[in-house]
Amino acid sequence: MNSYISNSIQETKELGKQIASKFNKGDVVVLNGDLGAGKTAFVAGVASYWNKENEVSSPTFTIINEIVLNDDLSLFHFDVYRLEDEDEFYAIGGEEYFDKGITLMEWGNTIKSALPKEYLEIKIDKDSNNENIRIFNFIPHGKHYEELIERI
Ligand SMILES: Nc1ncnc2c1ncn2[C@@H]1O[C@H](COP(=O)(O)OP(=O)(O)OP(=O)(O)O)[C@@H](O)[C@H]1O
Ligand SMILES: [Mg+2]
Repeated sequence: MNSYISNSIQETKELGKQIASKFNKGDVVVLNGDLGAGKTAFVAGVASYWNKENEVSSPTFTIINEIVLNDDLSLFHFDVYRLEDEDEFYAIGGEEYFDKGITLMEWGNTIKSALPKEYLEIKIDKDSNNENIRIFNFIPHGKHYEELIERI
């Protein structure tokens, strides 16, 4: 397991920005972690690689936010916190986005059986002693993501 420590929101965004260069169309990244863990901050960092940080919102009621990165690449920022289960995800056609761009999904563990067979899980843990520290655990599901995190 690959772990990184972030000491601030800026470091979390920087981590996202650095990893962004490794993502390609069809990649699916699931962000799991408590409320306020830094999932959206990480997505903002990824988007900042394409100078699109200000298009990332905390999608409280939006389940899918498409951010056009360039002529042939979009980032699909999902927040599935409000979905009851996988059926609701299928009802909105969620799985149809996976091969159309880069998918970053907050709370993906709530619709686990609807996730593709291979994806990169990022589990973010808070530190109980310091409110600014986060531990990022990169957990690859499938060979493609094993190789991807080796290149980070
Ligand atoms: N090291 C850190 N990395 C990221 N955020 C941090 C860190 N330290 C403190 N924070 C704070 O934690 C909060 C993270 O908020 P963010 O919206 O990114 O979380 P989230 O995981 O998306 O939450 P939610 O489940 O509500 O969507 C921000 O207020 C940020 O300032
Ligand atoms: Mg969020």
